[in-house]
Formats: sequence, C-alpha cells, structure tokens
Amino acid sequence: MDRIRIVGGNPLNGVIPISGAKNAALPLMIASLLTDRTVTLENLPRLADVSLLVRILSNHGVDYSIDGRRHGEDPDSGQTVHMTAREIVDTTAPYELVSRMRASFWVLAPLLARCGQARVSLPGGCAIGTRPVDLLLMAMERLGAEIDIDAGYVVARAPGGLRGAEIVFPKVTVGGTHIALMAASLARGTTVIHNAAREPEVGDLADLLVKMGAKVKGAGSPVIEVEGVARLGGAKHRVLPDRIEAGTYAMATAMTGGDVLLEGARAEHLQAALDALIEAGAHVEDTPQGLRVSRNGNGLQAVDIATAPFPGFPTDLQAQFMALMTHASGVSRITETIFENRFMHVQELARLGAHIRLEGDTAIVEGVPALKGAPVMATDLRASVSLVIAALAAEGESMIQRVYHLDRGFEALERKLSRCGADITRISSGG
Ligand code: UD1
Repeated sequence: MDRIRIVGGNPLNGVIPISGAKNAALPLMIASLLTDRTVTLENLPRLADVSLLVRILSNHGVDYSIDGRRHGEDPDSGQTVHMTAREIVDTTAPYELVSRMRASFWVLAPLLARCGQARVSLPGGCAIGTRPVDLLLMAMERLGAEIDIDAGYVVARAPGGLRGAEIVFPKVTVGGTHIALMAASLARGTTVIHNAAREPEVGDLADLLVKMGAKVKGAGSPVIEVEGVARLGGAKHRVLPDRIEAGTYAMATAMTGGDVLLEGARAEHLQAALDALIEAGAHVEDTPQGLRVSRNGNGLQAVDIATAPFPGFPTDLQAQFMALMTHASGVSRITETIFENRFMHVQELARLGAHIRLEGDTAIVEGVPALKGAPVMATDLRASVSLVIAALAAEGESMIQRVYHLDRGFEALERKLSRCGADITRISSGG
C-alpha cells in the first residue's frame, strides 16, 4: 500500500489548478443511464472513485471511451469521457461494487426510471457514521416505486412506470435530491421536490439533465419542479470545479503561509468556508482566474464553525478546518451537524501534537504553537487530507499510511502541492 511522506515547514507558493468536482462527476456519470444517446463529460477528474463508477456503469451496459491527450495539454487536466447506455443489459448493481462507493447506490433511480426495475445492493463507502438510505427510498416510493429489501439488496419495481409526485424531504439530502431529480425527469407528470439540497453539484446535475431534454426549474433553491418527459437525449457537459478541493488547498495555504492561486475555483461555491478563513487571518481575493489565498507573516486566530447544508460550512471541509485550527491562537469549537462520528481525524491529529477534546458533536480545539511530524493513518477521504494539511505545517517528517483514501477524491495531490514548494513524496508499495 502506498504511503505519503511529508517534511513540514515549507510555505506554499504558486498555482494549483482545481480539478472537476468528484461529487458532481459521480451523479453526472450516473445520469448517462437515463438515455440511449451519448453523454459526453469534459473535465472529469482522474480519481479512483471515477474509475470504479465506470466499472459499475459498464456492468449495466454503458459503453465508454476516453479522449486521448491533446497537444499542449497538462497531463493532470481533466479527461473527456463519452458514455453511451444504448441498452441496459443488467439492472442489478452487485454488492462487490456498490459496497466500495456509496454514491453508486444512486444508479437505482435511472435504472428504475428507464427499465421499471432495479436491484441494487445497500451501499458502503466512507465509514462516517450510519448513512441510511431511507429518504432515498422514500423519494422513489413517492414516485410510485414498490420497494422490498431482499438479502442486502433493494429491489425496486415500477411496472407501469414512475409518476410525478410531491416529495418532501424532512432533512436536506444531496443524494436524495440527485436521485429524485433523475427519476422525476423520466416520470409521467410533474414532480415537486421540497427541502431540496442546494449544493452546486445539484445545480450541475440539473444543468446536464436540461441539456438532455429534461424540464427542471428551481435547481439551487429549496423547491425544484420537474416536468417529466418520455425520453432524454445525449448532451455534452463540463464538470464544475471541485469546491472541496479548492477549500482544502485554501486551508493548506492558510496553514503553511505563502500565496497560492487556486485556478478555476469559484468564490460563490465556497463562501462560508472563505468567510471562516478570512476571520482566521487568511487573505482571499476573487480574481478572474480563480481564488488567490495568502497568509504572510500574521498568525492564525481561532474561529468557531458548525457544518450545515449548502450554503453553510461544508461537512467535507470540517476535518481540514480542524487541522488549521490546531495551529491557531485561542480555542475553536467545531460542531458537526451532518454526520455523526465524523471525527476520526481527531486521534490522528493528536499524534501530530494537536490538543482536541470531543464533547458530543463538538470538537474543542486548543491551538498549539507548533505541531510535530509523526506516522499517522488515513481513515476516510476528507480526514486523510486534514492530516496532509497538518503535516505540511508540522516540524519534521510525517508518514501517512493508507493513502488510497486520498486517491478516491484528490487528483494529483502530491504533484499539485510539491509544485508549490511542499516537500511531499509518494512511496509506492514495495518502494
Ligand atoms: C453527499 C456527498 C458527501 C457530503 C454529503 C453532505 C457525494 C458523492 N457525497 O453525500 O461528500 O459529505 O453529501 O454534504 O456527493 N440521510 C438520511 N437518510 C437518507 C439519506 C441521508 O438520514 O436516506 C442523512 C445522512 O445520514 C446525513 C444527511 O442526511 O446525516 C445528509 O446526507 P446526504 O446529503 O444524503 O449525503 P450524501 O448524498 O450521501
């Protein structure tokens, strides 16, 4: 298994190109199941989760091809992938594949909408608390699906097709909103989704669906209206930039000091996190090329945050912000309201010398003047990158184990950071 070695202390200076968003790429790819025509996605990040989803989709009958590199293209720039589900050959998504990535459960919606049936294994994914699918199933039932659970599988049927309906989510769910949007696009009649997630990735999926011929209004607001159509066509779409990746490198820069342009990052996707960074003492400038983040000379101040659905502070940046706060002056309270048990990074950050105490859903972080390098272990995707951030600022060497978690969600992480001056190297298994 690969490890990452970091010798801390170098400020970050330079340009980091922001990749296409993983959390947009996955639902966009899954939407290709809704049509027999070709969906072309540009700026698709080169990530383990994307490759795994390609395997899952090809199992259902999706043909795909990837454009080769073009002259003058950066090898780390996103790829263009053409996906065509001419015929769905299998409506079962097996445990071996779905258990490795939670989002693959979302194939349930397009399979059901297009074929009237689906058999999808209950999901796995990052071990961040119990992550139920009750609301996802409720949404499909509202649209007329009959659902049974059989031997670890969700078996869904809609022999007469799906029908438009009112779907009221009692709690904001990104996945629930994605699958409701996909299924409603091919349902008969009108669907209204209440308390919909407003995450930019929901807007990106709605944009693709509209290009495919769907009738969607209100994406990005809490009420989305979808008028079903009989069939959807092909489309070409560019994946939006990854706000979580951008926020992560913004925090890394605030942590180490320096001055970095996050090329392509958009402030409006990240305002709550940027506000917290500015309050902590970083300088953030919104430029036509992207966001420029710097911290020169001044130290960091403790800031309290609580995670919330968009436009609140994203849970996917909570661990990274905690890493930043371990080195701030004062005491910061970090409250996680989305996922229980999303504090697995606390123990590992403590190995680097952080002072963190847990009180229920809140971590109380007492800033220390310096962190010290240590061997640490990556536990989930976002937790792992918080260790990278802390290690970049720690004195001496840190060795991060189990970096396959990072490969699920961060494209070319070591290259992007080392180009900006970080001392970071991947040690391949056996190396
Ligand atoms: C997505 C993101 C993930 C992010 C999360 C919250 C992707 C691929 N993943 O995950 O990175 O951390 O949004 O922003 O886009 N819930 C239920 N029942 C359900 C579904 C969800 O109770 O049926 C709960 C969850 O346990 C959680 C909350 O709702 O407490 C929000 O989860 P949700 O927004 O659905 O997360 P995901 O879509 O899985």
